[in-house]
Amino acid sequence: MTALDETGRTDPAPPDTLVATLAGAAYTDPAAFTREQESILERRWMCAVRSADLDAPGRFATVDIGRESVLVVRGRDGALRAFLNSCRHRGALICTEAQGAVRRNLQCPYHAWTYGLDGALVAAPNLSSLGDIDRTRYGLIGVASREWLGYLWVCLADEPPSFTETVIGAVTTRLGSPEQIDRYGVADLAMAHRETYEVAANWKLIVENFMECYHCATIHPELTEVLPEFADGLAAQYYVGHGAEFGSEIEGFTVDGSSGFAPLPDLTADQDRRYYAITINPTVFVNLVPDHVIVHRMFPTAVDRTVVVCDWLYHPDVIASGGDTRGGVELFHRVNVQDFDACERTQPGMSSRAYASGGVLVPAEHHIAQFHDWINEMCADG
Ligand code: FES
Ligand code: FE
Repeated sequence: MTALDETGRTDPAPPDTLVATLAGAAYTDPAAFTREQESILERRWMCAVRSADLDAPGRFATVDIGRESVLVVRGRDGALRAFLNSCRHRGALICTEAQGAVRRNLQCPYHAWTYGLDGALVAAPNLSSLGDIDRTRYGLIGVASREWLGYLWVCLADEPPSFTETVIGAVTTRLGSPEQIDRYGVADLAMAHRETYEVAANWKLIVENFMECYHCATIHPELTEVLPEFADGLAAQYYVGHGAEFGSEIEGFTVDGSSGFAPLPDLTADQDRRYYAITINPTVFVNLVPDHVIVHRMFPTAVDRTVVVCDWLYHPDVIASGGDTRGGVELFHRVNVQDFDACERTQPGMSSRAYASGGVLVPAEHHIAQFHDWINEMCADG
């Protein structure tokens, strides 16, 4: 403990024996956020859109990735493609809605340049003979994309990092092997509910909060009832291959511990009655429980603002038969609200002089220190 000096002040530096967090400015300085946009959000694979949301040719969605608006559209050939949402003529946004549908082509609302669903320029007023123009050259700029877990992931980097290493690898590191997640059949699940949270906090606070369990006993009464080991706050979910076990009286992963649905069909016995949490840097969290999967996608929009979209996915038979998923949805919705309230409560403290040198990590949070190292490395490389 730092002693008070004669004026009653204490030294705001964290004690030497504990590991320091990032400094407060990392969560409040717009320049730091711009650096992260350039070096992380625009360089890594980002989970953009749930494929099933765009279930017919011409359906599109726009998402903000880093400083870019990205347009994802289902082509006539059934494939999803991602483009920079910027007209090649004078740069207007092609689509402004978060989601919508066009019948044949994408048309810029400014001067009506028209693009096929494959991005090629197909018409431009007063340029009736496009014969001289290389339409592909003036087509929409494509963005690297890849479907996995039923989502389209996009990467704005000129040379995207290996998807296998940076995305699937995160799951392997956490679960021990990629087959462990394959058994949940995430891509074939159906959506029971989606909730969008606008969180007044820096995106890294949300990641750190998700990675820690130190707060579980304090703020998650329902979750610790279902997963008693979380009450110890030891972030047990971060030991490789370890799933937190349901309490002995608990029947299902629901808000009151009442039974849910049959386990997803391909799960192994050791995956039943367990909860696994996975962080895929930088902005995705996946929770696996026997009868459903919860996928969080984050979209950092400012240094102190983050949109989090959370999908609850169940077996298609559960949804088709009108199964009551409210108990499961309510449990993690409460967890989300509890977590995001905590992040919003923390954000103002990031600009306090008390946090100028950061705070501290307790010993069980070595994985959060690794996250901080990763942030620093990524931004240094940028
Ligand atoms: Fe799109 Fe002119 S800016 S057609
Ligand atoms: Fe939490």
